[in-house]
Amino acid sequence: MTHPQFREAAHTRGSRDVLPSSGKMSIGSRSIPSHYFLSPLAGYTHLAFRMAIRELGGLGLATTDLVQASMLLAGKQKSLELVETESDDQPLSVQIFSGKRDELVNAARWLEEHGYQGVDINMGCPMAKVNGSGGGARLMCDTENAQSTVAAVVEAVSIPVTVKMRLGWDADHITAPELAHAFEQVGAAAITLHGRTRQQGFHGAVDLDGIRQTVEAVDHIPVIGNGDVRSPADAQHMKAVTGCDAVAIGRGAMLDPWIFRKLAAITRGKPPTDPTPVEQIDFLVRHFTLMTRQHEEYSCILFRKFAGWYGARLGIPEDLEDRLRRFTTFAEFDSIVAQVHQRHGERETPVPTALVKVPNGPNERW
Ligand SMILES: Cc1cc2nc3c(=O)[nH]c(=O)nc-3n(C[C@H](O)[C@H](O)[C@H](O)COP(=O)(O)O)c2cc1C
Repeated sequence: MTHPQFREAAHTRGSRDVLPSSGKMSIGSRSIPSHYFLSPLAGYTHLAFRMAIRELGGLGLATTDLVQASMLLAGKQKSLELVETESDDQPLSVQIFSGKRDELVNAARWLEEHGYQGVDINMGCPMAKVNGSGGGARLMCDTENAQSTVAAVVEAVSIPVTVKMRLGWDADHITAPELAHAFEQVGAAAITLHGRTRQQGFHGAVDLDGIRQTVEAVDHIPVIGNGDVRSPADAQHMKAVTGCDAVAIGRGAMLDPWIFRKLAAITRGKPPTDPTPVEQIDFLVRHFTLMTRQHEEYSCILFRKFAGWYGARLGIPEDLEDRLRRFTTFAEFDSIVAQVHQRHGERETPVPTALVKVPNGPNERW
C-alpha cells in the first residue's frame, strides 16, 4: 500500500533511528528536550498535572486537552482555563479542533498572538459531537480538504503547526500515510499518530505496522507514535519497530507519572528507578497543590475525580479514598494525607489501568 518513494525515505530514516538517541529533537523551529511526549487526555492533562509531571523530569512536549476553536475565540472561560499555562509549562502545544477552517486559522492566530509556541490540530477525536461538525477524525476522510485546512493554518502563523490523527476512519480507509505526506508538503512540522482507526475507538491492538507505514510516508518531519505505551519497554519497542521519532504517552503517564523520568534515565544509560511510597504520596500532594494555584478551593471538587486512581495507585485504604472523594476543605485534605502516610500499604495496590475512562459502546453514539 505504501508508495515506493515513501519506503525509500523510510529506509534512510530507519537507519538513523538505530543510533543512540541524544535525548533532544526538533519540531519545526522548536527544540524539544526528550523523545517522550505527554499525549492529551481531556479532563486529565490539565496545567497542574502537566507541571507535576514536568517536575519529575524527562518529559518532552506536552499538549493541552483539545479546545474547541470557536469557544476559544469567543473567550469562553472553560476554554481559557484549558489553555492556561505558566512559564515553566514548556514546551507546550495547544490542541484545537473544529470542522471549520476559518475557526482553526483564527484560533491559531489567537494562540500565536497570546505567546503560545505550538498549535496542534486534532484529527483523531472519535467523539460524535466533534465529528458531527466535521472536526476531529472526520477531517481524515477527505485528504484534499484536510490538506488545504492544514495549509491555511500553517500560512496563518509562524509557530509550528502539528497534526494529531488516527490511522484512518476504519480499516477500509487507512489514510494516515497519505495524509501525513500531504501535510508535510504544506508545512506541517510533525504528525502524532494513534495507531488505531476511529472505528476501533480504544479497542483492539495498536497497529505498529500502520505507524511504520506513516513514518515511511514522510520525508523528514518527525512522526510521533502513540497508543498503549504503558512502560519504558513499550515505548522503546514502538520506536524500534516503527522508526517513529518520538512516542506520545497518555494513559501510561497516568498509570506511571515517572515513566518519562525512567525513559530519561534509560536514554542516559542509567537504570530506571521506581518511586518510593513517600514520593508517590508527595506527587499526589503536589498535583493538588498545583491545582489550587489555578482553581483555589474549587480544587477540592476537581480533585475528587482522581481519588479512585490515587487510591488504587497508592494502596490508600478504602475509607481514606472515600474521604478523598468527598473532602471540601484544604484542612481536610491535609488530614487525609497525614493518614495516608500513616496507613499506607494497608490495602493491596491493584494496577489502576481501568481508572482512566474511555468512551465505550457503539462509537456512533459517543
Ligand atoms: C480520557 C481520554 C481523553 C482523551 N483526550 C484527548 C484529547 O483531548 N486530544 C487528543 O488528541 N487525544 C485525546 N485522547 C487520546 C489520547 O491522546 C491517545 O491518543 C490515546 O489514549 C492512545 O494513547 P494511550 O494509550 O497512550 O493513552 C484521549 C484519550 C482518553 C482515554
